Amino acid sequence: MRRILLVAALPVMMAMLGTAALAATDGPGQPGYGRGLAGDLCGDCHIVSPDQHYDGQIGPNLIERVREPEITELALRSYLQTTHPVMPNIMLTREQADDVIAYLLTFKGKPK
Ligand code: HEC
Repeated sequence: MRRILLVAALPVMMAMLGTAALAATDGPGQPGYGRGLAGDLCGDCHIVSPDQHYDGQIGPNLIERVREPEITELALRSYLQTTHPVMPNIMLTREQADDVIAYLLTFKGKPK
């Protein structure tokens, strides 16, 4: 019985190891997924990609903001988990938040 369970778990474990190796940042999220999510969920109000043009977005340019030292992974995470007067509460799953944050953090330290 125990042996059957182990065999069944092996592909799952290998898949997890594989995604961990692909992730570009130290955090748990996957920037590749985060890019699409950010465009869909945040792009109406924020600039979230270098090839996005200003089109009346009411929120700060997040590509620029993330280059500031105070915008850390923790800062982004707590911002997304708390309520704000202006920005609507967007309900992200833990995984979606991880991915969006990982994507945004790829712009840290990048030249403009
Ligand atoms: C409906 C518009 C809207 C959407 C959608 C939206 N935001 Fe915002 N966001 C705002 C506004 C407006 C502010 C500025 C809030 C303020 O000045 O108090 C803001 C502020 C922020 C800040 C703080 C930036 C700073 O300079 O400190 C972060 C981080 C942020 N948003 C992330 C996101 C992410 C990530 C998403 C997508 C999951 C998102 N927002 C979706 C409107 C939006």
